[in-house]
Amino acid sequence: MNKGMDRRTFLKGAGALAAAAALPVGLVEVAWGKKPGETFTFAYISDAHITQISGPQFVKNFDKGLQKAVLEVNFMDPKPDFVVFGGDLAQLGKKEEIDHGLEILKDLTVPVKWVIGEHDYYLDLGKYWQEKVSPLHYSFDHKGVHFVVLNSILTHDDWTHKRWPTAEERMHQMARLDNPEGSPFMVKDEQLAWLKGDLAKVKKDTQLVVLSHSPLYKVFKPWNFWTDDAEKVQALLKPFQSVQVLHGHVHQVLYNQIGNISFNAFMATAWPWPYPVSYNQLPNKVPDMTVFMNRADPFKERDGTGWGKIDIAGNRGVAHHYELWENSSRTVRKESGKKQPADDTYQDPKKRITPQKHY
Ligand SMILES: [Fe+2]
Ligand SMILES: [Fe+2]
Repeated sequence: MNKGMDRRTFLKGAGALAAAAALPVGLVEVAWGKKPGETFTFAYISDAHITQISGPQFVKNFDKGLQKAVLEVNFMDPKPDFVVFGGDLAQLGKKEEIDHGLEILKDLTVPVKWVIGEHDYYLDLGKYWQEKVSPLHYSFDHKGVHFVVLNSILTHDDWTHKRWPTAEERMHQMARLDNPEGSPFMVKDEQLAWLKGDLAKVKKDTQLVVLSHSPLYKVFKPWNFWTDDAEKVQALLKPFQSVQVLHGHVHQVLYNQIGNISFNAFMATAWPWPYPVSYNQLPNKVPDMTVFMNRADPFKERDGTGWGKIDIAGNRGVAHHYELWENSSRTVRKESGKKQPADDTYQDPKKRITPQKHY
C-alpha cells in the first residue's frame, strides 16, 4: 500500500486540518516495525522570510506560509516533541520582522529550537536575536540523542566589519542569492573550538543531530548553498557512528551522504528556490542521489513550499517527511546499515513523477 498516496488522497478529500490531525499516528511503528528502542518525532519549519512593507504592513503571502505551518504542526497527533525553526525568520533582519515572526510562532503548542539564518543576522550581527530569541550556538540532549545547533552563516571579518558603509547595506548585500559581492558562509574557528569541546563529552555511539542554516557541505558557491569550512566540521563529526545534519537556506528538498554523515534540507514556508544544476552552472551541483522536487508552479503561490517532520527511530534509522503543500509529499529515509538516504517512493527513476509543464 502506498501510504503517501493514501494520505494525499485524504488531504484532498477531507481538508488539510482534519488530515493534519490524522497524519502521523503510528507512523513510526508502521515504518520501522515493533523493535525495541526509543522513537520520537520533531517538526521542522524554516525560511519564513517575514517581510515588512512599512509600519504594521507585512507581505501577506509569507505570513500565510508561516501561519499554515504553525497550524498544521499544532494538529499533529501525537504532538512532536519540539519544533526546529531552521533560520531566516526575517527578510532584512529588522526587529519588526523578527517580532512579527515570533508573534506567529508563539501559537505553537510545543517548544521551539532556534537556528539563525543570514537574513536574521547581518543587520545587527545577531544582537536582537540573542536578546529576544536564542543563543547563536548551543547543544542539548533529547531521549538519548545529542543535538548541536551551529551558526553556520558567519563570514570573513573584513567583509562583515569593513566592507560596507552601513549595517543596512551589509544586510542588503547578504540577502541576495546570486550576489558576486557576497561572501561565503563559515562556521569559523572560535565555534569549531566550542564544537570540539562539546563533542568531547559525547560517547561515539551516541546518535548526533546537527542543526545549521546553510548546508555543512558544498553545493553551489555562487548562490551560497555552501559553507566554506564545512570539511572542518565534518572532520569533528567523523568519529561518530550516526550523524544527521539538518538545514534550511536552500528552500528545497535536498539530501546527501558524505562518509558517516547524512544531510537533509527542508523547504521554506516563503518560496522555493530552483535547483542550481537546472542552470547548468557547474562544477558544484546537486548531489546525484537527490530526487528533485518538481519545479514550482508560479501560478500556485504555495507550490514548492511546506514544512517537515523527522522520526528518530533509535539505532534503526531516521525518516524525514517532507510535507509539500501543492506537490507530492515525500519521505527520505536513512536506515542504519544502508549507505545513503533514499526516497521511499521516488528513488527509483522509473517511479518518478513526470516534471510539470508550464505554458
Ligand atoms: Fe532563506
Ligand atoms: Fe538563508
